[in-house]
Amino acid sequence: MGFPHTPHPRETQVLSTHFGDADARSVDGWKKRGGYQALANALGTDPVAIQNVVKESGLRGRGGAGFPTGLKWSFMKLGDGKPHYLCCNADESEPGTFKDREIMRWTPHALIEGCAIGAYAIGAEDCFIYIRGEFTEPLQVMERACADARAAGVIGKNAMGSGKTVNVWVHKGAGAYICGEETALMNSIEGKRGNPRIKPPFPAVAGLFGKPTTINNVETLTAVPHILNRGADWYKKMSRPDNPKSTGTKLWSVCGNIARPGNYEVEMGFPFGEFLQDVCGGAPKGRKIKAVIPGGSSVPVIPWEQAAAAVMDYEGMVAAGTMLGSAGCIVMDDAQSIPRQAARLARFYAHESCAQCTQCREGTAWTTKILERICAGDGTAEDLDTLLSIGDNMTGKTICVLSDSCATVVSSALQYFRPEFEALIKRTTIHAVPQVVAR
Ligand SMILES: Cc1cc2nc3c(=O)[nH]c(=O)nc-3n(C[C@H](O)[C@H](O)[C@H](O)COP(=O)(O)O)c2cc1C
Repeated sequence: MGFPHTPHPRETQVLSTHFGDADARSVDGWKKRGGYQALANALGTDPVAIQNVVKESGLRGRGGAGFPTGLKWSFMKLGDGKPHYLCCNADESEPGTFKDREIMRWTPHALIEGCAIGAYAIGAEDCFIYIRGEFTEPLQVMERACADARAAGVIGKNAMGSGKTVNVWVHKGAGAYICGEETALMNSIEGKRGNPRIKPPFPAVAGLFGKPTTINNVETLTAVPHILNRGADWYKKMSRPDNPKSTGTKLWSVCGNIARPGNYEVEMGFPFGEFLQDVCGGAPKGRKIKAVIPGGSSVPVIPWEQAAAAVMDYEGMVAAGTMLGSAGCIVMDDAQSIPRQAARLARFYAHESCAQCTQCREGTAWTTKILERICAGDGTAEDLDTLLSIGDNMTGKTICVLSDSCATVVSSALQYFRPEFEALIKRTTIHAVPQVVAR
């Protein structure tokens, strides 16, 4: 899984062009492929002009929330005399998502280039790439690539001979899902427990070490050099004619009951039904796709009929009753039990809750207990309403949205697949709860 496949003719390769191309991992190899040209040009440009090109391109954050990147950069007050920081979010712990690790494994210099440009554009001299603790290989590749880029004078003092200082550092994460939340990530870099911070203050005002900070996802930053090289108009054209709000290409990680799992890069606006059936091969072994979670486990599950008619961009996914999120697409066929999958995800959220907020700590734990009880055939008629009521109390009431994500899994599963839960409660079917191995 995740090993580069032969690209499908309907893919549009931009970020994934050099996946599987080992020579692209070296500084020279990257330069031979046109790399570091965008950085050289950027370092001779006004940072605000770079922000404006990124704004104009329509690039939105690929970490989950889809916030416009150029606008986020413009929140950093240039010339305020304070150190500024850029954090690159390479935590990638969202279940179903495995695209950022491929960018780092195969094109580490593409990310370093994006980080260096991003840092320069927000007035920062330092960018910290926060890599998930378990990512042994991407960590080694990135550490090596940063050392090579520094030795080659690409980054560091007088980066690319520009007289400007731009440093990129790799920081090994603490191996917790919550450390992907941007303020928890900053706490973790500071050596503190990875707990999310209350906002305001927002990171652009007081972030890492209390200084103005921007946090961007790996895929977001990797798109930036392409935009600077080829222009905002080129990027904007990769969209639906009637929807200018979602532009560019998107990497989709596809897993679960799918014939050809892996990472695929397609233009915004691609038809989701055709993507899953034709590009990814549909459900294996002649089965039918029953349900899809398109954006990583934190977005609503939808039935196949809704997915088949959906369009792959931010607005298209909302219109289909779900969200694009991190585009970690989990496919379930008609042999899967939705209550059992919901129980499994709830257990994940309960395990990963940082436990600061009562609604999250208690809500994720109770949700898990009730769902597992239902799956074991011991549910009661009141359980489904209790689950919805707990979910209500977990939504919009906590420091971060981990709690909301757990509630979303359950409410969407109940909205579309309630009869499966009812059948378990009436004991017409029973799905054993999977054995959970403590970490
Ligand atoms: C619990 C939780 C986990 C998250 N994990 C990640 C992650 O692994 N990677 C990521 O890029 N964003 C993650 N995010 C989103 C980040 O907080 C942040 O919005 C993102 O890194 C911003 O980058 P972008 O604007 O480029 O998308 C997570 C958010 C939450 C609430």
